[in-house]
Amino acid sequence: MNHGKRVGIVGAGNVGATVAYSLAMLGSCHEIILRDNKIDVAMGKALDMSQAASAVRSHTVVKVAEEMSDLKNCDVVVITAGSPRLPGMSRDDLLMINAKITKEVIEGVAKYSPDAIIIMVSNPLDAMTYVALKESGFERSRVIGMAGILDSSRMASFIQEKLGYGGGQIRASVMGGHGDDMVPLARYSTVAGVPLTDVLSEDEIEEIVNRTRHGGAEIVGHLKTGSAYYAPAKSTSIMVEAILKDTKQIHPCAVLLEGEYGYSDVVCGVPVMLGANGAEKIIEVTLDEKEKKMFAGSCASVQSLIDTLHNKNFFEGK
Ligand code: 2OP
Repeated sequence: MNHGKRVGIVGAGNVGATVAYSLAMLGSCHEIILRDNKIDVAMGKALDMSQAASAVRSHTVVKVAEEMSDLKNCDVVVITAGSPRLPGMSRDDLLMINAKITKEVIEGVAKYSPDAIIIMVSNPLDAMTYVALKESGFERSRVIGMAGILDSSRMASFIQEKLGYGGGQIRASVMGGHGDDMVPLARYSTVAGVPLTDVLSEDEIEEIVNRTRHGGAEIVGHLKTGSAYYAPAKSTSIMVEAILKDTKQIHPCAVLLEGEYGYSDVVCGVPVMLGANGAEKIIEVTLDEKEKKMFAGSCASVQSLIDTLHNKNFFEGK
């Protein structure tokens, strides 16, 4: 029987719950299933969101998976489970803790939703996407990391703040890993089609690039007890929608590179076409020497995390 579109969300914390809320308001799927170890909290949030969906006349129902086995036959599964980033903590500090959590969760996803497209959100994002790929055994088009949309949105928001105009007309572009050496591409960023370099000075662009790189930490610094969730969740729901609706739109996402940009066996953020089959195409944009160098640095950072996992025999038996 066709069950309609079903989205599973593992981790019903701030990010997971906000992804669910965003999707429920859009009515882009029939069912959202929340999975969290805190079952009561998930239950309360699911009821609350189903009622909000009714309020806006959305047909989406939000449910809870008490066991991993209840998260079955999902079209898309979003993984937000993991320890959050706390003040003073780098994304990389989370590596081993979240790799173990990811491994366990992905085993369940591969077993009960074997045809799903997985969207990874847990940090360190690119390395966790790599772990999910290895543990699921899924082809690379079905394991995609969220970060590029978030980082590009942050850059766009900082450009708007700096200019004082252009809101909603800004296209910012960020490639590379979701770390402090991500690659904001001023050359591929525009305001209503006007190159950024025509409306801002080099110094102003440099300031925006730096602020984008530390955009996550800036919010952690304010919140103190956790990290950002509205923009991360919205960025995730944009990816889910593109997949469910088979839009074939291009978004920066973290995927396994197999020769693209000259890299292999590493996950990094690049422009990707999203559709019903996941990451259906990787777009290779032309980078100049400086941008190539930045991208190399970012890939090297992700590679060093993957190397750490290999050195600790994390993938033994895979
Ligand atoms: C962020 O960039 C914590 O990675 C997360 O907000």
